[in-house]
Amino acid sequence: MNPASATASIPITLTQCAKTFRGTRVLEPLDLRIDAGETLVLLGPSGCGKTTTLRMIAGLETPDAGGRIAFGDDDVTALPIEKRQVGMVFQSYALFPNLSVRGNIGYGLKIRRMPAAAARQRVDELLGMMRLTAHADKPIDQLSGGQRQRVALARALAVQPRVLLLDEPLTALDARLRDTLRSEMNTLLRELGITTVYVTHDQAEAMELGDRIVVMSAGRIEQIGSPRDIYYRPANRSVAQFVGTINRLAGEARDGMLTTRGGAVPLPSMPPHTSLHTHQPHEIFFRPEDAWLADPATAHLRGCIESSAFLGERTRLTIGGAAPDPLLIDVAGRVELARGTPVGISISQDALIALS
Ligand SMILES: Nc1ncnc2c1ncn2[C@@H]1O[C@H](COP(=O)(O)OP(=O)(O)O)[C@@H](O)[C@H]1O
Ligand SMILES: [Mg+2]
Repeated sequence: MNPASATASIPITLTQCAKTFRGTRVLEPLDLRIDAGETLVLLGPSGCGKTTTLRMIAGLETPDAGGRIAFGDDDVTALPIEKRQVGMVFQSYALFPNLSVRGNIGYGLKIRRMPAAAARQRVDELLGMMRLTAHADKPIDQLSGGQRQRVALARALAVQPRVLLLDEPLTALDARLRDTLRSEMNTLLRELGITTVYVTHDQAEAMELGDRIVVMSAGRIEQIGSPRDIYYRPANRSVAQFVGTINRLAGEARDGMLTTRGGAVPLPSMPPHTSLHTHQPHEIFFRPEDAWLADPATAHLRGCIESSAFLGERTRLTIGGAAPDPLLIDVAGRVELARGTPVGISISQDALIALS
């Protein structure tokens, strides 16, 4: 039995879901549809309302009056968590320290009074799937962080939830383990095909795991889109800055060019009604990986190296004098350029981002 196959995946719909705690509105009315089987990532800085949204979907918080939550065609707004068939994984895992791995995974089945033989079989399946069979009888405190995380996932999946909800499940782990587990998580979520809402403040995690990403800030949705949309077509400056690093070029727009301190850059094509023939202040943006060092004589911009940071597979250069703010440019491999070295920068024109 495949863990997801017993329950067909269902869409989730939130309609006008706001949340107020003791007179303070922390979530503005939110409309959101999560497609059946998709992994939707809620991404945003701490305090923006991700956990509150997730807890409303789980049934741990009730939306303010007027908000509605549906699983498929079922209105679950008034249902408590135990009646919603959701599997949840928390940042802290919240495992039972006094139970073994097997005891933890089987906990929900015991509560639901599943017959012992069937429960044992189900737990065995999950142990196998999560590569925990050899650890089945160990107490939780003998497991590594990664193993604990797999126990928490197995426990959430044991009851064959209709919806999987994960709240920063990798945040407690060290960076190297987090990278490994992120790709394991990706494989697993794709195999499961279960409707999943995944909360994180880490943009790399959101990019890798999300079919779509919801970027949130201060209790509002800033943008919903595929990882590519969010990265290459950010809706506004706050999304652009939150998702990766971005450079700003500000200057005067004229005849299709933006003239800034260190040179001029061809502007991305504008909608026909916007005329930029007169001198107008203007700004455009680009990502560090979308520019390269070029011969200063023919490059778009000229500046001087302020510093360089070796990051392993690439070097990030900070270049002053080219634009009002220093520009960050990524070049492949190891590049050693002394502070003050004059350089030229050219920017890939289809990578220029115009933001409102
Ligand atoms: N039970 C609560 N009572 C009062 N305020 C809360 C409660 N839960 C969350 N908040 C507040 O709501 C806001 C959003 O919190 P949360 O959803 O946990 O954000 P995130 O998960 O994005 O970090 C924060 O300002 C937080 O302090
Ligand atoms: Mg949170």
